[in-house]
Amino acid sequence: MLLVTGGAGFIGSNFVLDWLAQSDEPIVNLDKLTYAGNLENLSSLDGDKRHVFVKGDIGDAALVARLLATHQPRAVINFAAESHVDRSIHGPEDFIQTNIVGTFHLLEAVRAYWNGLQDVAKAGFRFLHVSTDEVYGSLGRDAAAFTETHAYAPNSPYSASKAASDHLVRSYHHTYGLPVLTTNCSNNYGPYHFPEKLIPLMIVNALAGKPLPVYGDGQQIRDWLYVKDHCSAIREVLARGRLGEVYNVGGWNEKPNLDIVHTLCQLLDELRPKAGGGSYQSQITYVTDRPGHDRRYAIDASKIERELGWRPLETFETGIRKTVAWYLTHADWVANVQNGSYLEWTTKHYGQTSEAAV
Ligand code: NAD
Ligand code: TYD
Repeated sequence: MLLVTGGAGFIGSNFVLDWLAQSDEPIVNLDKLTYAGNLENLSSLDGDKRHVFVKGDIGDAALVARLLATHQPRAVINFAAESHVDRSIHGPEDFIQTNIVGTFHLLEAVRAYWNGLQDVAKAGFRFLHVSTDEVYGSLGRDAAAFTETHAYAPNSPYSASKAASDHLVRSYHHTYGLPVLTTNCSNNYGPYHFPEKLIPLMIVNALAGKPLPVYGDGQQIRDWLYVKDHCSAIREVLARGRLGEVYNVGGWNEKPNLDIVHTLCQLLDELRPKAGGGSYQSQITYVTDRPGHDRRYAIDASKIERELGWRPLETFETGIRKTVAWYLTHADWVANVQNGSYLEWTTKHYGQTSEAAV
C-alpha cells in the first residue's frame, strides 16, 4: 500500500492511473481538492477498491497519523503542493502554508509512524518528495544544466516554498534518519494539465479563438518532460533510489516559450484547422512579462540515467502531439474545468470517496 498526497492534481493523478495500470498494490490518495484537484481525472477508477480517496490536508497531522496507522503504507509519495508561479506572485500565503508548513506536519506524522514500525517494515519504508527544478533558480544562456549539487537559488514564492520543503525533507534524513528520496523535475506536460499553465492554456485558448498570451519576449527557456515519463522516473526512484539522495529528472528538451506556442499552433492547424482558415498563430499576443521571470531552466538527468537506468520514452515531438490530441478528444474535461462543474463533480462523488473509507 502507498500513501500518495496530491493525487487528484495533474502529475499525481497521472501517477495514480499509471501505478494501478501496472500494479495491484493499492493507493490511499490524500488530497485537499483545491481548485487544482480534480477527481474527474480519476473517474476511470470509480468502484476500484485499489484506490481509496481521502479529502484532507497534508497539514492535518492527526488525519495523516490516522491514515498511516490504518493503512500501514510502505511508502509515502508527496505530490501535494500549490504549484502555479503566477498564483504565488499574487498570493504567496497558500504556498507557505501547504508547501512549507504542510510538508513539515506531514514529515512529523511520517516520522512518528516510521519510528513505530518493526525492523523489516522500517528498513523498507520510503518517503519520496516530488519537487521541481525551479529551486535552482535561473540559468545563463550558456551555463551548464542543473545537476543535483547546483546551489539552491529560488526566485519566486513558489520555488522558495518548494526549496524550503526540500530542505526540511533533507534535514529529516540527516537528523532523524527518515528514509527519504527527493526528485527535482523539469516542466511537465500531458493529459489532465490544468489550463492555467502554458501548454494547456495555449491549446484551450487557441481553440476558443482567444489571445495566446506570451509573457515578455517569449524567449524564456524551459526543459519539457512528458508527464508519464516523470511518473516512470518516480517509480524507479521509489524502487531503487539510494536513501537520502536527490535525483534530477528531465527530458533533455530545452525550448523557448515562443517555439512551444508555434509548435502548438502548427499541430492545431493540422489536427483542427481554424474554421475561417488561417493559422492559430494569428492569435499570439505579447503581454507584460511575469515579475522576476526566470530566464532559463535546464536539467542534467545523467545521475538518474546512470544509477537507475531511467530514460524518457517520449521525445518532445511525440509527447506534444499526444498531448494536443488528448485535449482535442477531451473537450468535456476542458469544459468542466472552465465552467467550474469539475468542483460539483467532486461534491457529487464525494459520498463514495469520503474519509469514511478510512
Ligand atoms: P497541481 O497543482 O496540478 O496539483 C496539486 C494537488 O495537490 C492538487 O490536487 C491539490 O488539490 C493538492 N493539494 C494542494 N494543497 C494540498 C494540501 N494542503 N493537502 C493535500 N493536498 C493538497 O500540481 P502538479 O503540477 O500535479 O504538481 C505536483 C507536484 O509536482 C508538486 O509538488 C509540484 O511542485 C511538483 N512539480 C510539478 C511540475 C510541473 O511541471 N507541473 C514539475 C516538477 C515538479
Ligand atoms: P508555466 O506553465 O506557468 O510554468 P513555470 O512558470 O512553472 O515554468 O509557464 C511556463 C513558461 O511559460 C514560463 O516561462 C511562463 C510562460 N507563460 C507565458 O508566456 N504565458 C502564459 O500565459 C503562461 C501561463 C506562461
